[in-house]
Amino acid sequence: MSASAGPRPLRSDVAAQRVGRPLSRYGAPVSAEDEAAAHIGEVRRFYDRNTARFTGLGQGGASIHRAVYGPGVRSQAEAFHHVEDRLLDLLPAIRGGVPARVVDLGCGVGGSLLHLAGRRPDLIAEGLTISGTQAALAGPLVARAGLADRVRVREGDFGSPPPDLRDHDLAFSIEAFVHGPDPAGYLRAAAGMLRPGGLLAICDDWLTARGAAAAGRDARRVMDFRAGWRIGSLLTVAQAVEVAAGTGFAPVMDDDLTPYLELGRPRDRAVAAMVAVTRPFRPRGEYWRSLAGGDALQQCLRRGLVAYRLLVLRRAVESR
Ligand SMILES: C[S@@+](CC[C@H](N)C(=O)[O-])C[C@H]1O[C@@H](n2cnc3c(N)ncnc32)[C@H](O)[C@@H]1O
Repeated sequence: MSASAGPRPLRSDVAAQRVGRPLSRYGAPVSAEDEAAAHIGEVRRFYDRNTARFTGLGQGGASIHRAVYGPGVRSQAEAFHHVEDRLLDLLPAIRGGVPARVVDLGCGVGGSLLHLAGRRPDLIAEGLTISGTQAALAGPLVARAGLADRVRVREGDFGSPPPDLRDHDLAFSIEAFVHGPDPAGYLRAAAGMLRPGGLLAICDDWLTARGAAAAGRDARRVMDFRAGWRIGSLLTVAQAVEVAAGTGFAPVMDDDLTPYLELGRPRDRAVAAMVAVTRPFRPRGEYWRSLAGGDALQQCLRRGLVAYRLLVLRRAVESR
């Protein structure tokens, strides 16, 4: 899709959700940078407060992402690792003495890193999470898995990563990219973390052309998803590819995984009913908001407004 055919791409959702530019307490306009920083702070607080719920109540253990029943998946455990297994296929083959290096941008408590490092004995795996609580939880998980010499999780912003994160074969984000308010900044930072020719894999929810053109109740569904899930930017794949081209990336793969998601499970229907019954009372709690956002996302996925896709980009050999 050409940029002119789609929605205005790069205005972040953080800005899009506000009417006009907000004012500071002293009446001065708030800068885009301040808005982005406030959004990132909100995402951090959300995961600091709710990670125990996700890892405790969810069915994925240390995985804070959806199960994907892709081809060959035979169990729920495999479904929670299907995307990571796809990432393993992207890594260079084991080379005598040369470790493969991966970095997970938005790594939660390190579930994906543990899975990858457990399957590739030559892997050096780094992770960044904006949540200090998640980083603290990851340490003991990594130690218990006996992988502390090869897996490290740090608190940090994937938009301004520590300078020592360089020369990776693969950078990836699973359900984290959409939280970032600055897609171009994320892509620039990712390019800096990769070796020339290295790959960036982003598995996330993407706006479809239909979602971008949505009006009325469908537009409301997209807005509810954005607000409830602390979305910083919701792009179409075409928009992301266009921004990525400006930071030295070319697309190598774009797979629609939406058909492999579980939609409309009994628990999803129970959440939908609970959200519908309680919405008139305008609940303000952040966990309610995230449930309402999840319900809106289910509707968006079913109605083709949003798609869950694995996008893989290659950093140009001559870029930087
Ligand atoms: C839905 S969780 C996914 C976690 C992990 N990828 C997984 O699949 O288990 C979203 C993750 O994105 C991280 N995140 C969001 N914004 C971030 C940012 N600006 N920098 C680093 N991590 C961020 C959160 O801390 C959280 O770990």
